[in-house]
Amino acid sequence: MSLLIEVRGLQKRFGATTVLRGVDLCQTRGECVALIGPSGCGKSTFLRCLNQLETADAGTLRVGDQTVPTGQPLAMSDLRRLRQNAGMVFQQFHLFPHRTALENVMEGPLYVLGQSRAVAEQTARELLGKVGLAARVDHRPAQLSGGQQQRVAIARALALRPEVLLLDEPTSALDPELRDEVRDVLAGLNDEGMTMVLVTHDMDLARRTADRVLFLSEGLVTESGTPEELFTAPRTERAREFLKRVRA
Ligand SMILES: Nc1ncnc2c1ncn2[C@@H]1O[C@H](COP(=O)(O)OP(=O)(O)O)[C@@H](O)[C@H]1O
Ligand SMILES: [Mg+2]
Repeated sequence: MSLLIEVRGLQKRFGATTVLRGVDLCQTRGECVALIGPSGCGKSTFLRCLNQLETADAGTLRVGDQTVPTGQPLAMSDLRRLRQNAGMVFQQFHLFPHRTALENVMEGPLYVLGQSRAVAEQTARELLGKVGLAARVDHRPAQLSGGQQQRVAIARALALRPEVLLLDEPTSALDPELRDEVRDVLAGLNDEGMTMVLVTHDMDLARRTADRVLFLSEGLVTESGTPEELFTAPRTERAREFLKRVRA
């Protein structure tokens, strides 16, 4: 069983505030791990440390064949490789507003992978087709619904051929009726064997895609299990309270 992601004892501090107090994550290829927990408990910080949007202070961190040092930033060429291999999808999509869906997805293949325009365009069309947007390739973000924009963002992340997708609350900014289209895409990717680290409050999404759920509380993983185990029989009072609130 080969681990694609191996994180041990990860610590991160902002000034006097310690946000991560020693988080471990061992994840096999093809596995989807959901990270849940109260607002401010460090979920986004953890994801950001995985692809070095933040530099962790201590612990060990490996993604694929790349060991990421803690306590010091990565060299630029290593950073590029890490970001290519660990694609990020944000709550607020972060698409280029003046570019079409196709151009947004082509950006990475052109400028990061160095593909020719023809190849990049073919890749982008295929990926937009895969997320159900073949008919929307020439639309700009403002001409797309939130669910469509998030699907463009997922296609854009996939265009770099990452080994793992890091998703930070991918359905939280969407109207409830638009969440299913994004859940369907992510569940499909999971079925195809995409490795994912998924921060979410969306219990339907976690149930559909996650093989394992970790509950993060005050900078530590305090509970873990299958979605079924954790959602129906949380062991700690904190997890029970949290689940009661997000279900309400
Ligand atoms: N760049 C930063 N500078 C200072 N504090 C930060 C920064 N990023 C996050 N924090 C703090 O770290 C804590 C965890 O934040 P975050 O990881 O965003 O939590 P979550 O995603 O679980 O809601 C919060 O108290 C937040 O204010
Ligand atoms: Mg967050």
